[in-house]
Amino acid sequence: MIRQITIIPGHGKSHAPESVPRIELNMGDVVSIVGPTGSGKTTLINDIELFANGDTPTGRRILIDGEAPPNIYREDPAYHPIALITQHTNFLSDLPVKSFLSTHAQIRSADPQNVDELVAQTLDFANQLTGEPIILSSRMTELSGGQTRALLIADATIVCNTPIVLLDEVENAGIHRTRALELLRAYKKIFIFVTHDPRIALLSDFRIVMRHGSITEVIKTEAAERAFAVTVSRLDDALSRLRNTIRLGGRLTQEDMAGLNAFGPASAEVGA
Ligand SMILES: Nc1ncnc2c1ncn2[C@@H]1O[C@H](COP(=O)(O)OP(=O)(O)O)[C@@H](O)[C@H]1O
Ligand SMILES: [Mg+2]
Repeated sequence: MIRQITIIPGHGKSHAPESVPRIELNMGDVVSIVGPTGSGKTTLINDIELFANGDTPTGRRILIDGEAPPNIYREDPAYHPIALITQHTNFLSDLPVKSFLSTHAQIRSADPQNVDELVAQTLDFANQLTGEPIILSSRMTELSGGQTRALLIADATIVCNTPIVLLDEVENAGIHRTRALELLRAYKKIFIFVTHDPRIALLSDFRIVMRHGSITEVIKTEAAERAFAVTVSRLDDALSRLRNTIRLGGRLTQEDMAGLNAFGPASAEVGA
């Protein structure tokens, strides 16, 4: 049973050493990686997924429970303790959702009797993350971006059931992010999100800040900042509703405007 992973810093793009101490992630932690495009976020999660050992362009090393990970983690996918959800989710498979999940569950599950149960649990979990329910007979290639991300997160959490889950830029996906974090926290895993989304960052235990390929800072989320998360979530939800109304060809009403005004003084343009 894995308890901890350690990131031993290497160097950035300029080869200057990373000036942060080693970073320890403990089981149950939710961690964000933040930084502008090109700052090295994907590279960092790839280092973790590969168990970098000074052999990647960053020179970083990854330890599991304080030691270099056993070779079997790299060699046998069945023992690999990390599920990685990447930015690119083009499926080669055109299987119906049900076949996709049950095939995967048969490969991953120690108990084949359990497959239908795992599929049902995974679908239920995914449907709590997305506003557009997924049905088992849909084809994988027909799912929307949000449905796909929700299904992959559910699959990583329940079917793969790996102790470590890495998610690269999950935000543009139309999933209920606050709800997702609440649900994920019920599973004792290490979740690492590459994110531009303030609500995910603020609901994380800490965030790793990237710049020019380097880890430059580790910021723990203090209570004062965490308190913002509630307002940020409500604001974000309000904006999503407006976006959706417009996308579906509707008109915004005074009521929508009042909903936004609750977040602060009306802007100068209103009534001008
Ligand atoms: N520490 C590093 N040393 C050398 N090259 C790096 C380093 N970190 C990132 N890179 C390179 O910089 C580019 C952008 O990194 P990437 O991880 O894709 O950024 P992001 O995901 O933040 O947009 C990639 O080509 C990557 O290989
Ligand atoms: Mg990236």
